[in-house]
Amino acid sequence: MTVPVDFNDRMLSLGLARVSEAAAHASARLIGRGDEKAADQAAVNAMRDQLNMLDIKGVVVIGEGERDEAPMLYIGEEVGTGTGPEVDIALDPLEGTTLTAKDMPNALTVIAMAPRGTLLHAPDVYMEKLAIGPGYPTDVVSLAMEPAERVRALAKAKNCDASDITCCILERPRHQDLIAEIRATGAAIRLITDGDVAGVIHCAEETTGIDMYMGSGGAPEGVLAASALKCMGGQMWGKLLFRNDDERGRARKAGITDLDRIYSRDELVTSDVIFAATGVTNGSIVQGVKREPGFQTTETILMRSKTGSVRRMIYRNPVK
Ligand code: FBP
Repeated sequence: MTVPVDFNDRMLSLGLARVSEAAAHASARLIGRGDEKAADQAAVNAMRDQLNMLDIKGVVVIGEGERDEAPMLYIGEEVGTGTGPEVDIALDPLEGTTLTAKDMPNALTVIAMAPRGTLLHAPDVYMEKLAIGPGYPTDVVSLAMEPAERVRALAKAKNCDASDITCCILERPRHQDLIAEIRATGAAIRLITDGDVAGVIHCAEETTGIDMYMGSGGAPEGVLAASALKCMGGQMWGKLLFRNDDERGRARKAGITDLDRIYSRDELVTSDVIFAATGVTNGSIVQGVKREPGFQTTETILMRSKTGSVRRMIYRNPVK
């Protein structure tokens, strides 16, 4: 798809950073307070306020839920001043509500923006995910392969042993067999309790030591993770998983007709995209909010797929 000329992603990206910064600032005072809902609400309010200051005709395509479930930043909500480019917005004002409430690593505020009609309208169901970092041949691993086969294929491409591969997986009972199969290859597994957007991004950051992300998590988070990988480089695939007819209905309502489709990264995000994430708690991608008397400091990672640019921004701001 041709990117519309008025999708001025250079300037818009700076505005996007302010949106994710604001959400992190707002949820900071709720870190470690055991209240997931309050932390999420603070992030939602701040993200929405900032988003509405941007000169865009935005529509939330990945948001807080269906309109009847979420009063703010619901799917279909129009955001921005209403002047400017028509864009799709995918957001998660607080990715890792439990991580925030318990002050555990890698809670982020996350937002992506792309020209209208170019982000998959993923329903709130699970998605089977597979991701690797940049530098590998196309389709070196796939969702069609068994998990052990993926480990061996990646090790071969990396010219190392399977035991040198580290996979990141959400620690969930549903992943028991997956974990056992991967461990049987000799590969290491980094289990995370939440936050698979960060989990996928880890594949593209060499310092994390993670080679591959596998397992099921939220489909909306899958689109956000694909947006980040499109900027950083790396391959990703996702397949929607349905547990009942209600979930299949949600997908059809979102315009999805082929319920068995495997989406590549560039089918989840079909055009250029900009992505911003701000650390709420400390993590391996960005530092969490640092609080000191009178001030709060945040770190934001801001990326554009058009150029592959990755900018890190530290923002120290007085607390009112
Ligand atoms: P929340 O921030 O909404 O709590 O989501 C955290 C998260 O861990 C996501 O990163 C992940 O995609 C999803 O939950 C996994 O869902 P589940 O907890 O049902 O396995």
